[in-house]
Amino acid sequence: MNINGIILVAGEGTRLRPLTYTLPKPLIPIMGKPLVVRIIEGLMSNGINNIYVVVGHLGFLFRQLLGDGSSLGVSIRYSEQRERLGIAHAIHRAIEDGADGELIVHLGDNYFGEGLGRFIREFRESDYDVYVVLTRHKDPTRFGNAIIQDGRIVRLIEKPREPPPNSLVMTGIYMFRDSRDVKKAFSTLKPSARGEYEITDLIQWFIDNGRKVGYSVTNSWWKDMGTPQDILDLLYLMLDEVKPSIEGEVRGEVNGRVVIERGAVVEGKVHGPAYIGRGSVIGKDTVIEHYVDVESGVVINGGSLSRSLVLSEASLDLGRARLVDSIIGPKSRVRLSSGNYSLILGEGNSIVSTA
Ligand code: DAU
Repeated sequence: MNINGIILVAGEGTRLRPLTYTLPKPLIPIMGKPLVVRIIEGLMSNGINNIYVVVGHLGFLFRQLLGDGSSLGVSIRYSEQRERLGIAHAIHRAIEDGADGELIVHLGDNYFGEGLGRFIREFRESDYDVYVVLTRHKDPTRFGNAIIQDGRIVRLIEKPREPPPNSLVMTGIYMFRDSRDVKKAFSTLKPSARGEYEITDLIQWFIDNGRKVGYSVTNSWWKDMGTPQDILDLLYLMLDEVKPSIEGEVRGEVNGRVVIERGAVVEGKVHGPAYIGRGSVIGKDTVIEHYVDVESGVVINGGSLSRSLVLSEASLDLGRARLVDSIIGPKSRVRLSSGNYSLILGEGNSIVSTA
């Protein structure tokens, strides 16, 4: 049977503004690679070479970056979701545009520490009609919740105000054996109170109709990137696993697990784990403390940075100031003289403080 990947990236990322005014969440790079590319690579390495990307907000940026997928070695087609009518609706859009057979659906703002291999293998070796991946989370009210009885999912509830006891939450990967069943299920759905065709309702149809709905609980970390802190958390988790590699030029000092990409120049100090992207310059009075990702073409002079993501071509003149827990948008300019700051900036923003 045909197998198609579907990646949903039609969200607006409202809680990540101003960054997402120009840069959709799945295009935010971490260690030189946008999340959506990491997801595509994860699907590809598990034999999924036909991928539908469902776009909406700033969809042209995905087309620009990914094209027809040939540069990554996959075939990518695009579906438009003009109105953000829910995850089930977005999946249905891809089916309308030709996604058929087995479907592996991945939300564009999710990332799994253990990769996708085990899940895809378990689904393909099973006779489940639907397969989902669950996890535990300290705040189940933010997610779909699964109620399990005798090892089977009996009910799915989207963002319950009062989570059921011992509830497991739904992550953002869903596998379906047959796109025709998804079509059938979708045709029975009504929008929820928040006006969306919910993924929980779609899968509930399979449960209610006696279909086999299997699940696995991830045994590693999982991140859904809703807020700036979620992005920074993902960065810390990824930096924890970084393999050191120095291709750029180190005139200053580098300690610990650090990646210095080609064309980067470190004149100051970099303490790992840290990533310094292509062509970036870390000035001689700058200290990169740890858990910092500086993307490509960034120039930093003075100051110190800790637990932060600096996007491409930003320029930071920090004096004696310290930046912590910050995300600096691409091409932004920051000029500070002293003090501690935590900044979330969009693209091309300018912050100047002489205090
Ligand atoms: O991350 C897991 C959670 O994702 C699940 O636990 C929930 O059951 C599920 O509803 C979903 O909740 P979120 O509130 O986190 O979904 P969000 O609106 O952030 O959308 C997730 C991704 O799906 C995002 O990359 C944008 C895309 N999307 C979403 C909607 C609603 C679309 O492409 N189209 C849509 O209409």
